[in-house]
Amino acid sequence: MAKKKVKTAYFCQECGHESAKWMGKCSACEEWNTYVEEVVDKGAEKSDVKKLWQTDTGRRQSNKPKKLADIEKTDFARISTHDGELNRVLGSGLVQGSLVLIGGEPGIGKSTLMLQVALALKDHTVLYVSGEESEQQIKMRAERLEAYSENCLVLNETNTQNIFIQIEQSKPDVLIIDSIQTLHTAHIESSAGSVSQVRECAAELLRFAKETGTPVFLIGHITKEGSLAGPKVLEHMVDTVLQFEGDRHMSYRILRTIKNRFGSTSELGIYEMQSTGLREVSNPSEILMSQRDEVIGGITIGTTMEGNRPLLIEVQSLVSIAAYGTPQRSSTGFDAKRLNMLLAVLEKRGGFRLGTQDVFLNIAGGFKIEDPAIDLAVCASLISSLENSAISSDICFAAEVGLGGEIRAVQRIEQRISEAAKLGFRQIVVSKYNIKGLDLKKFDIEVKIAKTLEDVIKLVF
Ligand code: TYD
Ligand code: MG
Repeated sequence: MAKKKVKTAYFCQECGHESAKWMGKCSACEEWNTYVEEVVDKGAEKSDVKKLWQTDTGRRQSNKPKKLADIEKTDFARISTHDGELNRVLGSGLVQGSLVLIGGEPGIGKSTLMLQVALALKDHTVLYVSGEESEQQIKMRAERLEAYSENCLVLNETNTQNIFIQIEQSKPDVLIIDSIQTLHTAHIESSAGSVSQVRECAAELLRFAKETGTPVFLIGHITKEGSLAGPKVLEHMVDTVLQFEGDRHMSYRILRTIKNRFGSTSELGIYEMQSTGLREVSNPSEILMSQRDEVIGGITIGTTMEGNRPLLIEVQSLVSIAAYGTPQRSSTGFDAKRLNMLLAVLEKRGGFRLGTQDVFLNIAGGFKIEDPAIDLAVCASLISSLENSAISSDICFAAEVGLGGEIRAVQRIEQRISEAAKLGFRQIVVSKYNIKGLDLKKFDIEVKIAKTLEDVIKLVF
């Protein structure tokens, strides 16, 4: 019998682009040196492997085209996860048959969140498949969470064929996979975590979810650059992408919707990591307020866009008389040249005597901000420190500052204002030129309008 040929292809480990030959630079994402050869079909007879959601052929009925008017409208059935924040980011609950990807850096709390959800869904059978931790480790975690559910089943397995066999037997209402990068399918020979494996395993799970109506959570690790490790392809396949983020050394965590076929993407859930698991933070303003029990001069909150997501960030500055000759200027997380420019604007247009002062500027949390919308927060912070006059902690800023001391419009002001409102701020200062066509009343926050630096000073000091 003639041996079937082993079929291989090259995959970009950054974006998942497939190519028949090796290339130095990915034609899709333009990253260099990211192609790795992977076996896509090892050529073996597949008849020995039970065909469970592994192939398209023969399983799907072919569909006929329909007029929109003839398509029945159905409301998606949703399962409440007993977690207010998660329900919100999913768009009021978990849709039957949906595939939800939860991404985040290692150690951020993805497994904790999912186990907590599994244990809270007491009236649904939940199968928690872990390729990362042993059953004992999961039990220990559950004990730490002080939760138990008779209907939560734990499986330590990484082979998708075996997982589907267990699914046939236990018939879960909800399936959790921790993590997609540990899975491997017998149909592809490359190692677990490689682009083709991740893609094929996710495709099998997608077919399973759609054909049985079972919602599936996939946990996925994120690379340090912030994208889901390798496979961007996953983002296209799944219905919902959630990102779990935060500083591992701080206790607050943010769950964001990046993509959602069943709801809005501007949702945000906030948690606090405690010794007994994640606690929902239903009043988010407590996060930013709590760090500032006493009001200190030099601290302000600005808004920045991270990709297409708004983020509120703390700006801290310290302005003090230069002790030794030439004043020092130092900034962390903010462009030093831009800081010098803003100092000059404050000096010339605002009449603030900064020329003889040491100035230190810091963006909290180790962020590096390039968005000019942070300008006004920086200026306000500098004035506040110079004048030793604290700014109320429920005000935030979203505007660029021009060379003439004018307050300029920024992109996506609506999103920024909504985010500030969501996070519990009471007032936001924006440019006069930014509010054309905006219905300011619809926001749950007072929008203050400024045209020049002088206006801002009158508004906040
Ligand atoms: P984990 O869920 O394992 O992260 P991931 O799956 O995203 O890699 O979270 C691990 C961290 O959470 C770990 O540093 C310990 C901490 N933790 C708590 O602080 N309290 C808890 O109740 C639990 C279970 C974990
Ligand atoms: Mg984990």
